[in-house]
Amino acid sequence: MTEWKRTRYCGELGLDLVGETVVLNGWVNRRRDLGQVIFVDLRDRSGLVQIVLDPHALGGRQFAQAERLRGEFVISVTGEIAPRPEGQTNPNLATGEIEVNVTKLKIFNEAKTPPFPIHQASTVDESVRLKYRYLHLRSRELQESIALRHKTVTAVRSFLNCNEFMEIETPLLIRSTPEGARDYIVPSRVHPGEFYALPQSPQLFKQLLMIGGFERYYQIARCFRDEDLRADRQPEFTQIDIEMSFVDRNDVMEIMEKMVVSVLAEVKGLEIPIPLPRLSYREALDRFGSDKPDTRFGLELKDVTPHVSSSRFRVFADAIQAGGVVKGINVKGGADFSRRQIDDLGEAAREMGAKGLVWLALAADQVRSPAAKFLEEEEIEGIVKGLEGETGDLLLLIADQYSLVNSVLGRLRLSLGRQLDLIDQNLFNLLWVVDWPLLVFNEEAKRYEAAHHPFTAPLDEDLDRLETEPGRVRAKAYDLVLNGVELGGGSIRITSRSMQERMFAALGFTKEEAYRQFGYFLEAFEYGAPPHGGIAFGLDRLVMLLAGRQSIRDVIAFPKTVSAADLMTDAPAPVTQGQLDELKISLKD
Ligand code: AMO
Ligand code: AMP
Repeated sequence: MTEWKRTRYCGELGLDLVGETVVLNGWVNRRRDLGQVIFVDLRDRSGLVQIVLDPHALGGRQFAQAERLRGEFVISVTGEIAPRPEGQTNPNLATGEIEVNVTKLKIFNEAKTPPFPIHQASTVDESVRLKYRYLHLRSRELQESIALRHKTVTAVRSFLNCNEFMEIETPLLIRSTPEGARDYIVPSRVHPGEFYALPQSPQLFKQLLMIGGFERYYQIARCFRDEDLRADRQPEFTQIDIEMSFVDRNDVMEIMEKMVVSVLAEVKGLEIPIPLPRLSYREALDRFGSDKPDTRFGLELKDVTPHVSSSRFRVFADAIQAGGVVKGINVKGGADFSRRQIDDLGEAAREMGAKGLVWLALAADQVRSPAAKFLEEEEIEGIVKGLEGETGDLLLLIADQYSLVNSVLGRLRLSLGRQLDLIDQNLFNLLWVVDWPLLVFNEEAKRYEAAHHPFTAPLDEDLDRLETEPGRVRAKAYDLVLNGVELGGGSIRITSRSMQERMFAALGFTKEEAYRQFGYFLEAFEYGAPPHGGIAFGLDRLVMLLAGRQSIRDVIAFPKTVSAADLMTDAPAPVTQGQLDELKISLKD
């Protein structure tokens, strides 16, 4: 084998190495047979180089081998690096100024014709790419994004290791953790009828590590959640999971923003100033209609309720009467949108749950709007002023309950931002969203639920309201947002038993129920729990944004589909009757 061992990677060859004899190992990316000579683009993980197979240099027997070469054959070649002849250089290829004149060829392995050419993988249907993931992994885009993931994790570990964090593993077969999604459950053979859950996060274990005296923990942790999947959600995903003792909110946010900024510097060469901006949850909703605002562009929401508070226009009056608001956005220069474009926006708003969309086009000579005839002069003036409207602008208004108005305008804002190309793709806007509500009211269940999880501490100044106005209590919680994506979230935890009991009461748990579910955890707090808090970042989402990809599937080596299937191994799959019998499980038809 030694004589076939590579001496250099394909991608590192250039004019500076002309004259050197190299051994290269890799895959045939593409082959061009010019009759007399065969050109092959040879690929390894570093890139491509052109190799030249010429019967004079190779000899007849070896050239006959060369004629058998097809895409994805695995070969070794020995040859000399030479500059490409005049006019044959390829500026699109890093190694495009040279080629390798082969004197020896060895075929390690042949390959069937792959279901798609590797360099065209991105054009084939995703299900085919996922079935043959190991082939798609050979493509440049996946080689790059997986390498970027490795670089990111390395930078994270290096930062944390230098800052006294210790990497500790926590179990995968556990009792359920309360993150709010459905659990994946695993039946126990030894305890028939009993089940483990796979962790939705290491939440309780990392807190127990604080009680266990480790003070600074981290883990690149696999988490499992059986929830509705989207482009940025997978059933199993990876967190950069962190917990710290003897800290307050600021301590956690300060060190974590240092970590993220240093990782972005290391991986992308970005210089992001700290401290990062902080927005309260309320301000994020007020201004961007979202708890994960994308601040790379304006188009902010403005409340014009005061300007129309006594309007006779039924749309506004009804909403305000019902305790709602009237808010809008100003599409700069949008007054010349076609009627069709405006109707599409209205349709989009309705699909998002709004009752409609009021629009005012500020033309040079007049305000064009179907609502104009229902509005007083001062009301129109107030709306225009409130939205800082100028000639040429298009004002879009929605009247409804506060949360619905925010949600619809927030989404319209994002889609207009994309549509009108307002987003500077070179920006990496990081910000904290703080002062989250502690509890959210679940309309269906008619009770409060933890907005984050039941161990999140309330803000001291809001404590009094826990029993009287639970919906208005804010939490010592923080989320880190990058370009409109929730990258991570965490909180300071409750460490006093009486506080924890009040929290369970607010969630409608009886003491007995709480102890039945989390008894081991609550007991641990009776043996001296340090003040502590932490955070978890979605590693897949971070790498997705760094790689400029639209889906976390592009940065996971072996991802699942949106229906949680692995098309390559065909999982999930039935098990044998024998396995079921052993587990004492019988299936319903
Ligand atoms: P949380 O549930 O907010 O917090 O999760 C933390 C981060 O994990 C990422 N994430 C996901 N990524 C991909 N696919 C998913 N299905 C998925 N779900 C979540 C997000 C999110 O911000 N234990 C707490 C953290 C703590 O309090 O310390 C927790 O898990 O980027
Ligand atoms: P209607 O009287 O329901 O036909 O509505 C008159 C106009 O107001 C239409 O252009 C609707 O799209 C719009 N509209 C209706 N309800 C709302 C609302 N809640 N917020 C904003 N616009 C609305």
